[in-house]
Amino acid sequence: MAKVLPVASLWTKIFCEYYYGQQEQSFARRASEVAYFFTMLSSAVSAVSEDDSLCVAAVDQEGGKAVRCGIAARRLTQTTRGGHFGDDDWNDVLARGELGLTGGDDLALLYLWNFGVDCECRNRGIATGVMRWLEERASSGDIPCGQVDALGLLVYRTNRPAISLYEKLGYRVVERYVDPRWQRQAERGNTGVERKLLMVKPLCGQQVSTL
Ligand SMILES: CC(C)(COP(=O)(O)OP(=O)(O)OC[C@H]1O[C@@H](n2cnc3c(N)ncnc32)[C@H](O)[C@@H]1OP(=O)(O)O)[C@@H](O)C(=O)NCCC(=O)NCCS
Repeated sequence: MAKVLPVASLWTKIFCEYYYGQQEQSFARRASEVAYFFTMLSSAVSAVSEDDSLCVAAVDQEGGKAVRCGIAARRLTQTTRGGHFGDDDWNDVLARGELGLTGGDDLALLYLWNFGVDCECRNRGIATGVMRWLEERASSGDIPCGQVDALGLLVYRTNRPAISLYEKLGYRVVERYVDPRWQRQAERGNTGVERKLLMVKPLCGQQVSTL
C-alpha cells in the first residue's frame, strides 16, 4: 500500500504527458491533471486491493524511494471479463479464435493496464525488465491472482514505442479484434478516439495455431 500514491502520481505524470502533451501549462491542463490523478489513484487502489489483481512498481535502486515504472494486471476469465471484452469477443478471439488458445471457457488472461516508465528513465530497458519479470512469475503461477494462460493488453495503434516493445517480447496483434468501446465511439462518428489494438502473448504450454 505504501506504493499506491507514488504509483498513482507516476501514472498521472506519464499519461497526462501522453494524452495532453508537454507544452501547454494552462489552468485547464492543471485541472485535468488533478482530476486524472483521482482516476489513477482509484485504479492503483483497485490493483492492489482486489484478489484478482496486482500492481508492480519498479523503484530507484538507491533508496527505493522514487517509482520509475508501474503496471497493473487483472486475471480475466470468461465470467470475470466484465466490461473489458464484448460478449462474443472472448470466445471468438481468445478461446477459439485465431490465437488458438486452448482452455475454452476456463481460459484465463492476465490483462495488463496502466503500463508506463518515467519519461526521465526511458530507453534503459526498464519496461523490458518489468514485463519479463511479470511474465516469468505468471508462467510459474507465482502471482497472487493465480494461474493464467496468456498475457494481454490494449495499446493505441499509433503508439509505436509500446507496440515495438511488445512485439520484441513476443506479443502479437489480434487483427480481428475491435475494442467495443472504440466501436461505439466510431459508430457515433467520434473519430477523435484512436483505435486500440489487442496484443496477446500465450504462455508456455499453450499451443498457438498457425494461420
Ligand atoms: C513504451 C514504454 C513503456 C517503453 O519503456 P522503456 O523503459 O523506455 O522501454 P525499454 O528501454 O525496455 O525499450 C524496449 C524496446 O521498446 C521499444 N521502444 C522504446 N522506446 C521507443 C521509442 N521511443 N521509439 C521506438 N521504439 C521504442 C524498442 O523496441 C526498444 O527496444 P530497443 O532498445 O532494442 O530499440 C515507455 O516509452 C512509456 O512509458 N511510454 C508512455 C506510456 C505508454 O505508452 N505506455 C504503454 C501503454 S500500452
